[in-house]
Amino acid sequence: MSELNGQATLEAMPDLIPPQDITITQDVTPEKPKKKKRESPSVKRVKVTHIKIDAGNGRIKFLACDYFGVIRSVISQVVTSKNTIGAFEWDDKSWLVGADAESVSQSKQRIEVGTTTGAKVKYFHLMVLGALASHPTILDEAVRVDGDRKHKKLVIDIECLALARGEDLLQNLQKVKEFSKDGVTYEVEWRHFIASPEGFGAAITAHKQIKELDRQARQFHVLDLGNGTITLTPYNCYGMKPLAGIPKSGSGGGVIAIIDKFSETANTGDGETIYLDQLRKALERSKVIDDNGQKRYQAIVAGSRNDVGANLATALQDWKYKHPATRRVLREVDDVLLDGEYVFCCGGGFEIPPVEDFIRSQFPDSERLIVLPNPGTISLLGLQ
Ligand SMILES: Nc1ncnc2c1ncn2[C@@H]1O[C@H](COP(=O)(O)OP(=O)(O)OP(=O)(O)O)[C@@H](O)[C@H]1O
Ligand SMILES: [Mg+2]
Repeated sequence: MSELNGQATLEAMPDLIPPQDITITQDVTPEKPKKKKRESPSVKRVKVTHIKIDAGNGRIKFLACDYFGVIRSVISQVVTSKNTIGAFEWDDKSWLVGADAESVSQSKQRIEVGTTTGAKVKYFHLMVLGALASHPTILDEAVRVDGDRKHKKLVIDIECLALARGEDLLQNLQKVKEFSKDGVTYEVEWRHFIASPEGFGAAITAHKQIKELDRQARQFHVLDLGNGTITLTPYNCYGMKPLAGIPKSGSGGGVIAIIDKFSETANTGDGETIYLDQLRKALERSKVIDDNGQKRYQAIVAGSRNDVGANLATALQDWKYKHPATRRVLREVDDVLLDGEYVFCCGGGFEIPPVEDFIRSQFPDSERLIVLPNPGTISLLGLQ
């Protein structure tokens, strides 16, 4: 895997990491009461916490203890520690992860994962700690060490989605032996680690659908429009589980690239200057409006209430024609659709109605282009 302009590009397949050199402890699952069996005092049962995480360029999605959370992929090293959501201490430094990390004053270092080269791999461990520190109950799972209220232990099984090599992520994670939050030190044991292909939950959902749509199909594709990248991945669907092939993606091409183009088309002439974060919000709440049979896009900028929907329409054209990764991937999509194969769409980009509408309009009469339900979260939630 290589990283360019902070956006992940694919050259290698992610791996399934066997739990080498990780101590295996027993999972605690409630069992039917059996006859009393004497247990040797040396065998200690350990509570294991399971977490699924998709630490993306734009948003960290995580699922643990029946709670699904989404936080922004922004990391700040802060001067003083706070007892707030997403705050923790690690490596003798105080950190804050999530939307607050963007606005916090007195930040020593701020990492916007989507725009920092290699950050998705390099700071993976901080994104995982940010998810743990933003979870409302997960730290309650920790057990006291020697009865100490201020020193607890967590044993964690983690499943993540990654374009990167799983080994690189695991190596980073293993730097974390302990961290602190709100005055409690948590010792961490990373027990099992699994890295699945980035859109794998979407592929599992698509796999179920294709069995109904076309029993003869041997292959389908997943088109993931994330914050940093646009990726088309082929999957073999012959077996019980989808089997990923080499993804087609260029550098970038995700929602960040749309915002860049939007900024060019919306900031022309001597009108108001619209900042990137204003445009991102205008894009995320944009709509497709039907004006007496005429379709148009609406994108309202907060403050001026200007509608820059027409500029968004031009920006999407520019994104398609001028961005090399987008151009290449959309041409590949056309190829596979013309070959009669199915393309299932996921990624937060498909949560934005004008973006979905624009992409659909590139492939007229293609009923084999299917946008999966809840495309922004299905890659993680579809794993269940
Ligand atoms: N529900 C939503 N409504 C509007 N926009 C959304 C929604 N969900 C996501 N988005 C937009 O889609 C973008 C991409 O989201 P997604 O979670 O797929 O990115 P990511 O997985 O973090 O990025 P990458 O896959 O490139 O690492 C977000 O940055 C956001 O701008
Ligand atoms: Mg993603």
